[in-house]
Amino acid sequence: MSNIVLIGFMGSGKSTIARELAKKLDMKVIDMDYEIEREEGRSISDIFEEDGETYFRDLETDFLERMKGKKHKILSSGGGVILREKNVKLLHHIGTVVFLQADVQHIYNNVKNSKHRPLLEVADVQGEIKKRLDEREPYYLKAADVIIQTSGKSVEEIVRETIAIL
Ligand code: S3P
Repeated sequence: MSNIVLIGFMGSGKSTIARELAKKLDMKVIDMDYEIEREEGRSISDIFEEDGETYFRDLETDFLERMKGKKHKILSSGGGVILREKNVKLLHHIGTVVFLQADVQHIYNNVKNSKHRPLLEVADVQGEIKKRLDEREPYYLKAADVIIQTSGKSVEEIVRETIAIL
């Protein structure tokens, strides 16, 4: 099977679904945020704070360029990766792009206790999710080869549906 690339908003479940898909399909997960943090030796929040979002976006593009040629991988991408056209082209070179489409409530439930997402360090988290989701949804849809609705579904259901459609 070709590589699988998971895209979707923060908290849409990319990392969890990647892990479960990997178990079922006997593939290896590459978690982009984790790898970037490891390579940089600091957290995403620190990267944003010390060098800004554009620097982080450049790291994402550089990372995707280095993914070309990898085989049998499930890439769990960062939620903002689709904002650059160049990245979307790279994602398609890497593998089949699966959009995990979640609604505001589903996303909020997943992110409300997490402290490592600098873009959601705001007073009105739900409002921020809605605003950014409205902005980004067209990009996710355009980038997707496959769309999987995740809201209200269990991890098992999402994994089953994804495998059936690939
Ligand atoms: C971001 C999503 C995050 C991380 C960074 C920016 C975004 O990844 O890359 O905080 O712009 O949506 P997750 O989608 O894994 O939370």
